[in-house]
Amino acid sequence: MTKYKTKTNLVHGGTRRSQYGELSEAIFLTQGFVYETAEAAEERFIESGPDEFIYARYGNPTVAMFEDRIALLEGAEAAFATASGMAAVNAALFCQLKSGDHIVAAKALFGSCLYIIETLLPQFGVEVTFVDGVNLEEWQAAMRPDTKLAFLEAMSNPTLEVIDIAAVAKIVHSVGAQLVVDNVFVTPVFQRTLELGADVVVYSATKHIDGQGRCLGGVVLGSKEFINNTLATYMKHTGGALSPFNAWVMVKALETLDLRCNAQADSALKIATALQGYNSISRVIYPGLKSHPQHDLAARQMQKAGTVISLDLAGGKDAAFDFLNKLDIILISNNLADAKSIITHPATTTHQRLTPEQRESLGISDGLVRLSVGLEDVDDLLFDIKNALL
Ligand SMILES: Cc1ncc(COP(=O)(O)O)c(C=O)c1O
Repeated sequence: MTKYKTKTNLVHGGTRRSQYGELSEAIFLTQGFVYETAEAAEERFIESGPDEFIYARYGNPTVAMFEDRIALLEGAEAAFATASGMAAVNAALFCQLKSGDHIVAAKALFGSCLYIIETLLPQFGVEVTFVDGVNLEEWQAAMRPDTKLAFLEAMSNPTLEVIDIAAVAKIVHSVGAQLVVDNVFVTPVFQRTLELGADVVVYSATKHIDGQGRCLGGVVLGSKEFINNTLATYMKHTGGALSPFNAWVMVKALETLDLRCNAQADSALKIATALQGYNSISRVIYPGLKSHPQHDLAARQMQKAGTVISLDLAGGKDAAFDFLNKLDIILISNNLADAKSIITHPATTTHQRLTPEQRESLGISDGLVRLSVGLEDVDDLLFDIKNALL
């Protein structure tokens, strides 16, 4: 399918049609596979072809459809699907690190990513240096001859800082290290992360890829050498495989991913633009606005500025809670990237476990709310927001 364009690949890429010629992709809800002969089983255990499966922890036809389709979208040589986004982050790091290695990470991380990097990796003898992700001098200063890899979220949660992937990749590669990017907030639709210089990209498929709040899932993408020889070996033996049912949901969701991301990002830009100048909002954070500190970088690096907006309400926590409670269409929840618009108060939910000092250093004030823009009519969303701000 590589000769076709993205939208075509998202509909047809990776399809494995069975002998029944089904139109829609089948769910192969099986953990095992049978062999014609003992010799065939022996051969498959020595070497399996791309359409030869052994056990669903290693691979499954429906999971393979999802992996191949998203690899085409990302422009990656290979992909391995995982049970959740965190299984993907965990595997991308643990499969290639050993005691004595040094890693550098941006400090603005999703809580579970932070837990792996700040707490788990040091327990296994990995040394970690945190940097301000948007400060290239800090990245440069943190690099050491024993630096094995660097980790960042391309757009941070919930303050939407945009990191210069190409510049960080250059710095990381100068010491022979690998750059692992969690690209959840940007989406594979809006950024060519591998082309920018990342070596490995991870996604929580739970977010935009499903996009309809149904399943957990994740995926790691990179070179054939890394995915097949390093990552897949770790995954096969540690057991974080994606279930065939969830893979089927994801593969069908990829068909509409481009349409959904574009529609949600267009609405996000319209809402962010309309909310500028409100007295009750001290800051509208959206990379598509000129007021965003990395607006030029975002315009260069991303096709659209994403589907999430953060608003800093001037009245602090009381104003934020009042706003959330007055919303009608927009739902209070902690997920994001859903067809349904979702609002979150990070300081008391997703980032509650951080100390007030940590929250302050990340710009997460008590008045900050994160709005994930869905697929509803944008005029209805604006009406809902403006009404709740009264
Ligand atoms: C940036 C980022 N990475 C990873 C994850 C983890 O994904 P999952 O919930 O699918 O494990 C999330 C959200 O939960 C996230 O926001």
